[in-house]
Parts: sequence; C-alpha cells; structure tokens
Amino acid sequence: MASFHYSLLFLLPILIISASNAQTPITLPIQKDPKTTQFYTTIQMGSNRATINTVIDLGGPFLWFSCNDYVSNTYAPIPCGSAKCEVAKGIGCVGCNLPPRPGCTNDTCGASPYNPYLDMLVSQGFAEDTLYAKNRVPQFLFSCMDKDFLEGLASGATGMLGLARTEISFHKQVVGKFNLPHKFSLCFPSSGIGKLSIGPGSGPAISKLLKTTPLIINPVSTYPIYVTGDPSDEYFIDVKSIRVNGEELSVKNSYFSIDENGVGGTKISTIRNFTALHNSIYKPFTRAFVKAAANMKIKSVAAVNPFRACFSSDSISKNPSGPLVPDIDLVLPGKDVYWRIKGANSMVEIDRKITCLGFVDGGSNPRTSVVIGAHQLEDNFLEFDLVKSQLRFSSSLLTQNKSCSRL
Ligand SMILES: *[C@@H]1O[C@H](CO)[C@@H](O)[C@H](O)[C@H]1NC(C)=O
Ligand SMILES: *[C@@H]1O[C@H](CO)[C@@H](O)[C@H](O)[C@H]1NC(C)=O
Ligand SMILES: *[C@@H]1O[C@H](CO)[C@@H](O)[C@H](O)[C@H]1NC(C)=O
Repeated sequence: MASFHYSLLFLLPILIISASNAQTPITLPIQKDPKTTQFYTTIQMGSNRATINTVIDLGGPFLWFSCNDYVSNTYAPIPCGSAKCEVAKGIGCVGCNLPPRPGCTNDTCGASPYNPYLDMLVSQGFAEDTLYAKNRVPQFLFSCMDKDFLEGLASGATGMLGLARTEISFHKQVVGKFNLPHKFSLCFPSSGIGKLSIGPGSGPAISKLLKTTPLIINPVSTYPIYVTGDPSDEYFIDVKSIRVNGEELSVKNSYFSIDENGVGGTKISTIRNFTALHNSIYKPFTRAFVKAAANMKIKSVAAVNPFRACFSSDSISKNPSGPLVPDIDLVLPGKDVYWRIKGANSMVEIDRKITCLGFVDGGSNPRTSVVIGAHQLEDNFLEFDLVKSQLRFSSSLLTQNKSCSRL
C-alpha cells in the first residue's frame, strides 16, 4: 500500500505541471537590492539545483554566472564548431590549462559575457545545463564567468540574466522549449516582490491599463563586440519628443532618431539607475522642470551629484502615487500615445530635506540620446511582445492603486 501512495504522490505534480505548460507563463520573482538598487531574480540550475541570483539585464544577450563553485553532473560544455555554437554566435574555441571543472574545459565554444558595472568583456565558454524555473528546462544554454569578474553586482548575485533580442536570450530559450508565444513582461518593485513573466501576456485586468508602441531596431549593434552589419539586440522605442507639464521641449528632432551609424534614439536599460539624456536634451529639460516646479511653489535648493535639479522636500506635497511634481511625458508615435512619468518615478529622495529630479546628464556625445533607466521603470508594467514587435506599458501602477508587488 505504501508504495502505491508514493507513486501517486510522485505522479500528481508531474501531471499538473505538464497540463499547465501550454497556457500559463513561466514566472520568476524580482527583488531590488537596496544597496545597489539593482533588480535581480533567482533561478535554479543543474543536477544539484544550485540557487543562483542573477541581475536582470534587459540589454544582455544571454544568461551568465560564475561557475567556479558550480557542481552539476548534467553540465556540458558546448563544443566549438557545433550547431549550438553557431546559434549562440560563439567566437572561436577556448581552452583551459587548469584541472577540468565547469567553466574550465577544452575545445569549448567561445563566449564573451559582459559585466556592465566593470565595463568589461571577458573571454569564457558556452555551456548547457538544466534550468529549473517552475518547470524543468533541459539543455539551457548560458556562459560561465570567472568569479574574479563579478565586481559591481549586487551582493549575493553571481550572474546576469540577459533579456535582449537574441536566439539565446533567457526568454527566447524558455518560449522555445515550451512552445509559448514569444513575449515577456517585467514589473520592477519599489519594494516587495515583482515579477518577470515569460510566455502568454497579461490578464485582462492589467491589459486594459496598457498602451502600445512599436519596438524599433537600431541597425548597428550596441554590444561591446560585434560583427559589422549586426543590428542592436537592445530594445529601442521611437520617442518623438518630451513634454514637461504638457509643454514640449524645444529640442532638435535628430537627437530622437537613430542615424545610419546607430547613433541617437531611445532605449530601455535595466542596468542604468536613472534615465540619462543627451546634454542638449538634459539642459532644456531640467530648465523646464525647475520652472514648472517653481510654478507649483516647489523650492529649488543646491544640486546634489549626479543630479542637476534638486528641491526642498518640505515644499513638495505627496499623495499615494508619490511626490506631486510636474508630469513628464515621453511622446510616442500615434495619436495621444505617451509614457507619463509621475513623481514616484521622476523624483529621488536624497534625504529628508532634499529631493532631486532623478535624471542624469548623458554627456554631449552619447551613443544613445535617451537611455530610460531602472528608477523610471519601477512599478511600471512592461510587456515586450516579440511576435508583434511591440512594447506595451502601463506608466505608474501607483496611480491605479496597484504596484508591481500587488498585481
Ligand atoms: C546606482 O545607485 C547605487 C545606490 O545609490 C549606487 O551604489 C550605484 O553606484 C549606482 N550605480 C550607478 C551606475 O550609478
Ligand atoms: C586541455 O588540453 C591541454 C593540452 O592537451 C591539457 O594539458 C589540459 O589539461 C586540458 N585541459 C582540460 C581542462 O582538460
Ligand atoms: C487600494 O487597494 C487596496 C488593496 O489592494 C485596498 O485595500 C484599498 O482600499 C484600495 N484603496 C483605494 C483608495 O481604492
């Protein structure tokens, strides 16, 4: 009798999991590291189900993590010259003269994982192993990274989870294995637990809050290493102009478009803390904001680096959706389509006394004119639909009495 019970218990979860594969998204928790303000998720990999915290990198081409202490008997390096190496766009063959272990093998498909916090590209090898993300995903491709190159990551994180538009991005592999529609959504929590969701889109309750804008392709790669002719794998949107309190900034249109060298335009980055604007946009932007704030009786104070416009916290009123300050709109193509940035996303509280406009100067010669950063994404629901090549976005959920940790 006992063995009968065991087998029933054993079978049951498997049946439930396989029945749910087709319809439900794969979801992972998102947490914010308070010290670095990086957003990370937790995955399990390999035969020992090692728990690995990985920082979410929307512009990263693949998953990488440190394999120095990784033990798994289902680990396999990707051989150079193999079909998988080609799909991964592996570069050459790498070897290793130390005792063999995960991350140290010969004749391995070369990977170039990038640590953006160190601005360092490292020569490593591609490998595959089983990923456990609610369901078992065998032969999941990733790159190892030597532990010496983890500096800058949130404490406890040993890798990065890349969500760019590549064949081996985290979401592309997951949808491929489970035959799900090629979509994923991100909801970065200001506190509590948010969600990375892969596969079928949001339910009707969220869907009705979303606006849609096309994702556009930058014709020139923005990764530190690439082959001539490769487009960028990052996500660009076609911001046409910026409004502060309803008034459009007077800025040359050319900054907002992407030229034939891939310069200009607007992308979304989850590794930048704050939105960075080309200096020729930043200057009129801060001027307009300070003026509109003054009209609301908000008092300017001396600026605190890296910000250029700061205010006395006492002079700013608050409501449940954050500080009441001038609205900022990123104006998008189509009639009346814009991404509204409210106080909770535009302002940064430095201390009790000082609150600053949380945008930074991108310099006078940036590759990309507008880089939307993580602070501006908090408590905004973002769905990347790669079937239709569209971004669907909510603006601040706080204005709807919702948040990424209460969806
Ligand atoms: C982001 O903010 C955190 C906390 O303020 C800081 O430690 C980190 O250096 C910042 N990173 C960047 C790239 O500005
Ligand atoms: C790689 O090959 C070299 C030369 O044959 C050998 O000395 C070395 O031990 C090998 N490394 C691994 C990790 O197997
Ligand atoms: C906001 O939502 C919470 C639960 O999610 C609810 O208890 C509360 O009454 C709501 N507040 C308003 C103003 O609707």
